[in-house]
Amino acid sequence: EDPRLQRIASSIRVIPNFPKPGVMFQDITTTLLDPKAFRDTIDLFVERYREKGITVVAGIEARGFIFGPPIALDIGAKFVPIRKPKKLPGEVISEEYTLEYGTDKIEMHVGAVQPGDRVLVIDDLIATGGTLCAAIKLLERVGAEVVESACVIELPELKGRDKLGDRPLFVLVKAV
Ligand code: PRP
Ligand code: HPA
Repeated sequence: EDPRLQRIASSIRVIPNFPKPGVMFQDITTTLLDPKAFRDTIDLFVERYREKGITVVAGIEARGFIFGPPIALDIGAKFVPIRKPKKLPGEVISEEYTLEYGTDKIEMHVGAVQPGDRVLVIDDLIATGGTLCAAIKLLERVGAEVVESACVIELPELKGRDKLGDRPLFVLVKAV
């Protein structure tokens, strides 16, 4: 296993009972405080994706906006933000998804991703997989090929990976 992964795993702070009792919150802001861990995180993604013909890195609000852009710049791809509702100023395409209670929605600018684009989807974390699944569906609706989704950390207990079915998911760290 790559020795950089241990440093990255150690750099993630766990905050118990945030945002509510019983949740062990995986906080990647401490990774950003460790320039070597942050650099290694970006490098590991860049090494994996640089020769894969990726044309678009799509980052999911909010923390996909931290990891996505440096990867996009390094591999020479466009960066496209996928945002919470009513944040993007142009014409949007949106995808609704189900939460434990109620629904949520994500949006992307029309025209930002073209049919035939080869897309890498980036977020900090996969929990239930609802957000990533909605992002993939949105991208597929505009005719893009989602080559892979990638996160810094996975919460395996929540089985979000199962929700993605056959779609490939790459993560650096699994929470214990
Ligand atoms: C978190 C995380 C992912 C999503 C994962 O974002 O950064 O985007 O939840 O959860 P899921 O796999 O169950 O869908 P959050 O909802 O905290 O939004 P924020 O980044 O805007 O704070
Ligand atoms: N960290 C960050 N985002 C999250 C988490 C977490 O532990 N759980 C669900 N979304």
